[in-house]
Amino acid sequence: MRKSLRTAAVLICLLPALARTVAAGPYQDDLKARRARAMEKLGTDSVAIFWSAPPRVYSLDVNYEYRQDSNLLYLTGIDQEDTVLLLMPGNPAKKEILFVREADARREHWNGHSLTPKEAAAASGVETVLTMNQFEPFVISTFSRQGTPSIGADETRAFGDALAQGRATLAVLLDAPRTLSDAPGPAGQFAGRLRDRFFGFHVVDAGPILAELRQIKTPYEQTVLRKSVAISSDAHRAGMRAAAPGKWEYEVEAAIEDVYLRNGAMSWGYPSIVGSGPNATILHYQKSGRQMQAGELLLVDAAANYQGITGDITRTYPVSGRFSPVQRDVYEIVLAAQEAGIKAARAGNQASAIQNACDEVLRAGLVKLGLVTDATGMQFKVWATHGVTHWIGMDVHDVGVRGKALAPGMAFTIEPGIYVREAALDALPKTPENLAFIERVRPLVQKYKDVGVRVEDSFLLTETGVENLSGSVPRTIAEIERFLSTPSTARR
Ligand code: GLY
Ligand code: MN
Ligand code: MN
Repeated sequence: MRKSLRTAAVLICLLPALARTVAAGPYQDDLKARRARAMEKLGTDSVAIFWSAPPRVYSLDVNYEYRQDSNLLYLTGIDQEDTVLLLMPGNPAKKEILFVREADARREHWNGHSLTPKEAAAASGVETVLTMNQFEPFVISTFSRQGTPSIGADETRAFGDALAQGRATLAVLLDAPRTLSDAPGPAGQFAGRLRDRFFGFHVVDAGPILAELRQIKTPYEQTVLRKSVAISSDAHRAGMRAAAPGKWEYEVEAAIEDVYLRNGAMSWGYPSIVGSGPNATILHYQKSGRQMQAGELLLVDAAANYQGITGDITRTYPVSGRFSPVQRDVYEIVLAAQEAGIKAARAGNQASAIQNACDEVLRAGLVKLGLVTDATGMQFKVWATHGVTHWIGMDVHDVGVRGKALAPGMAFTIEPGIYVREAALDALPKTPENLAFIERVRPLVQKYKDVGVRVEDSFLLTETGVENLSGSVPRTIAEIERFLSTPSTARR
């Protein structure tokens, strides 16, 4: 449990949340265009249903801060639980129907105002907004081909005809089962119950359609992404100002998250990673509980969720202000790998070109340091343990279509890293090759032990090339040392 969330959860109990009614404008135009593109892909024989995320319990009667389902937020902009969007592309006029919860004076006294149908229509740009008690009757009358009184009997006729001819489609977001014995998720269970009662349709996963849409950021989303990454970049600079020997990791985390909240971010996009010394080698270290020592590196991986969009930035810097020769050796390789990755991030290339470009530099660099003995294979993955690129957007590890070539509008990270953990040697299977490798590299592992370096930026591909949205955060050794040597009050 994050400290910030714990506070938020308590505050939610005590303070009535203010529901903001958003006036119709460019955001609503963009939401409408997203739904129109989704409907084009769904086709006129289909109905698609998207549910809001459930609230999640933190402790007994205290919930975590509410996190909307990314796909529902993408299509409606509505950040409220008990919300359902139904898309029926074959309807002549009312193709989009939104369901929101009914007013409830007691609940609203405790938890704040809920959007009225009129407010939900203004916020989302969906013209037909009904209340949740109408959802089930709507679905039953639609699938039983009785016509749907709440929006007019003729509206759902095309879907009824598709059902009668056995070619209708129900699209919902199906969770990928991890094992054969996994039960379907709630949407899959809903679809199953409809199949038990009605005929003439098959169920498809709406996930790939949304993934394809979300992979290309609209101009509106690009504006929000830029702002989101700008806030996170400011936050990183604040974190750098807060770091010093004797300070605690949580002090840096507090300085970072303070910037998010002061700039109107919804929350963090993922829990901040603030790892000093050996903690810099823990990829998803979240405790932020250690006191930094002079001479150590601090690795900070953090970004805000601003209006539903999250960047992803990592910086690694010396808490005393200057890199040691050992730290410099590793940092220079990681930085050079990122530069190679940036060069490979061109429209028409696959994302794997970025990975390959980074890998080549990481491998050669690690061979040079003596931490790797095989100059051609995958041995370097003992120290460079993770992939170097992923999409960013509504989710920090955003959805996208695998194998689709890089194109303008795509946003992604480039984030090589090297982590020297002695335990990595102990974990290797004891084959003769590995034993020989361990013996040769052990002295070098002692030399570089506990050095963890990752450099990560958020990029947007545009018509003119790749743009580093987080490039204002000091990144090269010279930039970092200059920033850290400037008196705190003068640093920007
Ligand atoms: N912040 C998680 C990652 O870098 O992928
Ligand atoms: Mn990342
Ligand atoms: Mn990251």
